[in-house]
Amino acid sequence: MRLNDISWEDFETLSLEQKRPYLEREEGDGLPYHTLFAQQFDRSLLERLCALANRIRFINKSREGALYLKSVLAHKRAMLYFSQPSSRTFLSHLAACQILGVTTGSVRDAATSSEFKGESKEDSIRTFSSYFDMIIMRSPEQGLAEKMAWELSNSSRSIPIINAGSGKDQHPTQALLDIYTLVRSFENTGGLDGRTVVFCGDLLRGRTVRSLSYLLTRYEGVKQIFVAPKELQVPQDVISMLEECSVDFEVSTNLKDAVKKSDAVYMTRIQDEWDSSKGASAKIDTSMFKFGAEELALLKEDGCLLHPLPRRDEIATCCDRDPRAMYWRQMRNGMWIRAALIAATFGLEREIMGCGY
Ligand code: NCD
Repeated sequence: MRLNDISWEDFETLSLEQKRPYLEREEGDGLPYHTLFAQQFDRSLLERLCALANRIRFINKSREGALYLKSVLAHKRAMLYFSQPSSRTFLSHLAACQILGVTTGSVRDAATSSEFKGESKEDSIRTFSSYFDMIIMRSPEQGLAEKMAWELSNSSRSIPIINAGSGKDQHPTQALLDIYTLVRSFENTGGLDGRTVVFCGDLLRGRTVRSLSYLLTRYEGVKQIFVAPKELQVPQDVISMLEECSVDFEVSTNLKDAVKKSDAVYMTRIQDEWDSSKGASAKIDTSMFKFGAEELALLKEDGCLLHPLPRRDEIATCCDRDPRAMYWRQMRNGMWIRAALIAATFGLEREIMGCGY
């Protein structure tokens, strides 16, 4: 199945699971060609990508290894098209490209591109595809990456797209790095299966929550607890997805209770850029949804604290030096797993796993 075998209208009506085969590489290795949403990754793919990320970070430790990695995609160019603010996602994709020798170009503000003159996004993307071999894109528009992937696959120059955040909807590469961080955090204490993960903050509008919640269903018996003020509680589509997967979950307003039961806590900031009227989020009482010294004291000794960042005050800085605070490592893990994803997208999994470094 290929994206140019199906009309956009028909593709749009498919479920995410049904869309998945259309987005795979033609080589039949199960790896994604376009990476658009978390549902594209099953357990085996997640394990392959984590293994590849571990391999890349090991190879990169020696000068010879790093120079080898820099040669593997030296013939490729990637366009970073970010029309929404970003620090970590932009920089870690850029660094991932640099590790693999991919040269890059970027647009970080549509006001500096021809979109400002009225060019359609479709035309902008086709323009990028004329000069680059991959597009890594972030947009405030839900579903845009999907539409653009279809457009490119139906053009004379099909190149892969990586969704680096689409509206309030999905952030698949963030979910990959979150999973990679959780897997590494629990690798010496029995693994991620059977753990309890607490999500706290703006669960309604946080796209990282939707993508990670889905990926956690790929692990056995992972319980999910959603802690948020009522107005920002996890949306119905996530609840329905968890019910369909028969996943054990709880919806709560009590962070301390949830932390006591948790193995991992995933804090998020209030996503007030989506407020329908200015200052609407500020009227919500979020004071009970912050992680500080008291919550840290309740967290298991082998537990971990994550945050996709940027943070405001939802994690007190006094937690930063605790060995369970994983957000700094999480951010660096993003670079490695994104390097793995880019290498895999270009068909280098076998070569890198089997190279002599
Ligand atoms: C997140 C995002 O952009 O969705 N940031 C990120 O990519 N690390 C989370 C956020 O902005 O709160």
